Amino acid sequence: MKHPGIVILTGAGISAESGIQTFRGDGGLWEGHRVEDVATPEGFARDPELVQKFYNERRAKLLSGIAPNAGHEALARLQKEYSGKITLVTQNIDDLHERAGSENVLHMHGELLKARCLDCGEVSEIREQITAQSPCRLCDTKGRLRPDIVWFGEMPYFLSEIESSLENASLFIAVGTSGKVYPAAGFVEIAKYAGATTIEVNLEKTDGSHVFHRCEFGPAGKTLPRLVSQILTDPTALS
Ligand code: OAD
Repeated sequence: MKHPGIVILTGAGISAESGIQTFRGDGGLWEGHRVEDVATPEGFARDPELVQKFYNERRAKLLSGIAPNAGHEALARLQKEYSGKITLVTQNIDDLHERAGSENVLHMHGELLKARCLDCGEVSEIREQITAQSPCRLCDTKGRLRPDIVWFGEMPYFLSEIESSLENASLFIAVGTSGKVYPAAGFVEIAKYAGATTIEVNLEKTDGSHVFHRCEFGPAGKTLPRLVSQILTDPTALS
């Protein structure tokens, strides 16, 4: 086994070819919305209806006509066929990795299809809209559900698991992420310090490109199938 540990970090760019908007840049998801209004606990406390509407719309869109693309499928193939350990970490709140067949996806920023009760803490699957009438499935309290999404100022999920995978990684690949949001933006440094080869897959150069050993510029749906075939055929070619 030439690469005992591979850590893959995905961001909004991997889902762009499936029709989900990225966050930054022209026509990005944040355009027209202040991040402070829709992605902070303070924004939710101020105007819960606006925040629920924002995520209800995203949830409805995810469940109507969006499908995984060749990039998600390539990573699912890698998970199935690679003999070493793969840790798949995503900043994305969609379920496209799972729909492509990936397992054990670490959603460090939470999931759009989950809700959390602010009273009892229960996390439940949710496919419908969250309203003031939506009851918690465990404690039955109404109006206390929020999207189970990590907002700015909140602690991302799975950090200790991710850090330990990074510290044991031989290969780290960051796909479709602008590298503007920490702690995910710092994962490449941890992996590099641990001796991993680091590869960036992105449409274009990012602020962090210079940190990676190698950059593959182009759409993830084209780059990842090629990269995955390369890893499965001869992982040493990437070291
Ligand atoms: P961004 O929107 O910041 O960046 C998306 C990146 O994907 C950009 O660097 C694009 O160049 C690249 N990209 C676009 N299309 C691509 C394609 N087809 N193939 C490859 N790359 C492509 O999204 P993230 O970096 O994921 O957090 O954003 C990180 C976090 O910021 C999000 O998880 C979200 C946001 O605030 C929270 O909401 C907590």
